[in-house]
Amino acid sequence: MATITFSNPEYKDKTVYAVAGSHTETILKLAKQNKIPIAFNCEDGNCGTCLIKVTHLTKNGPKGGPLTDKEQSVLKELGKLSGDEAEQMAVDDIPTRWRLACQMIVRDEDLVVEYGLT
Ligand code: FES
Repeated sequence: MATITFSNPEYKDKTVYAVAGSHTETILKLAKQNKIPIAFNCEDGNCGTCLIKVTHLTKNGPKGGPLTDKEQSVLKELGKLSGDEAEQMAVDDIPTRWRLACQMIVRDEDLVVEYGLT
């Protein structure tokens, strides 16, 4: 069971429990289920509207899954991921702090998700 705290300067932080392991549950889906107002548009990793900043609280835990090429290219377009960082992620398995909520799968780890940053 993972706990995910959604944080935005305009709203009170809200922590929700997530059942990990379905490999289909995205952060955006979880947010919608819990009425967290993360902005979104395409829901397919193309527009960048659902940009979030993620802090991993579980040491040595899973890191939210690898970024797809599509997510990497949108994050690069938004200036949130450099080519060097993308390479480092691939080599050292270091997660980026910036993700797309509609692409990030919930894993069994505790997170803080900041939203409303665009
Ligand atoms: S809603 Fe478009 S990238 Fe997530």
